[in-house]
Amino acid sequence: MIRRTIFTGLGPNIDSDAVTQSLAMLCMPWKWRTLRRGPNSKALEQSLQRLYGVPYARTIDSGRSALLIALRALNISKGDDVLVQAYTCMVVVNAIRRAGASPIFVDIRDDLTIDPVDVVAKITPRTKALIIQHTFGAPAQTDPLIAIAKKHGIATIEDCAHSMDTDVTPPPGTQADIAMLSFGSDKPISSVRGGAIITSDPAIEKRIDSLMETLPDLSLLMVVRLLFQPPLFALGRATYDLLGFGKGVFLLMKTFHVAPRTITQREKQGEPDGFSPSRFPNALAVLALKQVNTLPQKNEHRKKIARIYAQTLHPSIRQPHRAVGSPLLRYIVLVEYPHKVAQRAKSKSIQLGDWYQTVIAPGDSNMRAAGYIAGTCPRAESFALRSINLPTDLHISHADAERIAVCMNSLV
Ligand SMILES: Cc1ncc(COP(=O)(O)O)c(C=O)c1O
Repeated sequence: MIRRTIFTGLGPNIDSDAVTQSLAMLCMPWKWRTLRRGPNSKALEQSLQRLYGVPYARTIDSGRSALLIALRALNISKGDDVLVQAYTCMVVVNAIRRAGASPIFVDIRDDLTIDPVDVVAKITPRTKALIIQHTFGAPAQTDPLIAIAKKHGIATIEDCAHSMDTDVTPPPGTQADIAMLSFGSDKPISSVRGGAIITSDPAIEKRIDSLMETLPDLSLLMVVRLLFQPPLFALGRATYDLLGFGKGVFLLMKTFHVAPRTITQREKQGEPDGFSPSRFPNALAVLALKQVNTLPQKNEHRKKIARIYAQTLHPSIRQPHRAVGSPLLRYIVLVEYPHKVAQRAKSKSIQLGDWYQTVIAPGDSNMRAAGYIAGTCPRAESFALRSINLPTDLHISHADAERIAVCMNSLV
């Protein structure tokens, strides 16, 4: 009997709506001029304002661009230091550098969020901003962190790339001066690529508006390539176990660069990707709007799957988010030999995730360009070396989660 392959990633948010919406837009080339500009970005912004209960939201091409604009809106520039946790993504570090500032890496707590004690230890007169990252959907210690920042006159940005938990009060993203969201392909909701900035500060709003005014559109070719992703990923996933057909689909996508890379080789070297920051295309806003409407179901599902892992995984397996009740983007476990475990799980048709296996992910990022000095965040280094990610997305059924947990129990 063929065992269905379980994926972590590969378009985890892609549902039938995303496929039909993308195909409908691709199949009407005479309407392609509306792919870039149209009313849907505004509609999405209004929807985000309602969702978060904030007066201002602006969409943009990606989370990394949202972060760059947020830093610029806070007047972060050359000579400034920005505190950011280790156990993060290279694009976060790039945004800080592109704003002209230097990243100062702070160690993490056991739940993989920034450690307020190390924040205090790393504040200097050059520190101008603090990025509060809700890692994998686990809420950071936002209140004490903001209190520390206020005491030292430091601006705050919530990095909500992994978290859209709008069921709690207040939702992550509404406490700091600004928050950024991501609608990338592996995020809480996905329009393949995209992001947003939210704030309740009228002075910051004005600065964001003026920074956004001059942004270019993404090229039409890029938007079309992004729209190909939902149908092709859906096809690849659905036929993966069918005589290798799906594997062929993914291989062709990679060979012919159908889907733009989530992070380019240039970005891994600390350089700009050449096309962001840009405006959020109307076509991607169509996808994101639909996904926002299904956010409560998506979040509930993630919580349910995380509970199954917490109940079924052997308690001796270290699970930083075992007691976290939030919708987790991925469920992290810490094991001695993550690469070996991933290989063995793959032989059982379970593809585990490899995010954050280095302090600055992905693993082939240029650490020198990132400016990370080995030994400065020992807990982040140790956790990264042992991290492996289990999926929580809507494609994972109760039975899949149990199969993954039983497999993990047998491997570690
Ligand atoms: C913690 C974190 N912040 C920000 C981003 C940037 O989001 P985007 O991929 O939409 O640019 C990422 C990307 O994965 C991330 O992991």
